[in-house]
Amino acid sequence: MSLARFGVSLDEDILKALDEFVIENKLPNRSQAIRHLVERNLVEKKWQCNQVVAGAVVLLYDHHKGDVTIKSNDIQHENFDVILSSQHFHLSHDYCLEIIAVKGIANKLTQLSDKLIGIKGIIHGKLVMSRAE
Ligand code: NI
Repeated sequence: MSLARFGVSLDEDILKALDEFVIENKLPNRSQAIRHLVERNLVEKKWQCNQVVAGAVVLLYDHHKGDVTIKSNDIQHENFDVILSSQHFHLSHDYCLEIIAVKGIANKLTQLSDKLIGIKGIIHGKLVMSRAE
């Protein structure tokens, strides 16, 4: 990939925040920090669109509460075409961690993730995505 250079003017406080971001994320320089932030922003925009992305839905729940396991299973079967695999960890007597790998149209994955995370009894849920093409 060829590199293009350009000048950036920033307010001092934003520059200070950028330098803190460089340190916090152990990045080599400001250029890498800007690249990272731009890419992250572009990925998040893609969530709303029709492009193919890949990622994972992470769910944490207490399997004794409600019927989370049954509901999650039903939703996953309804969306088998975008689910690559799922892993279930029995964290303790009560808690389960489920990681569902997904690939498909961003819109559809966001809807799927909202449905899963919205199941009554889910303690924590998050969708992470990245460009897949
Ligand atoms: Ni379990």
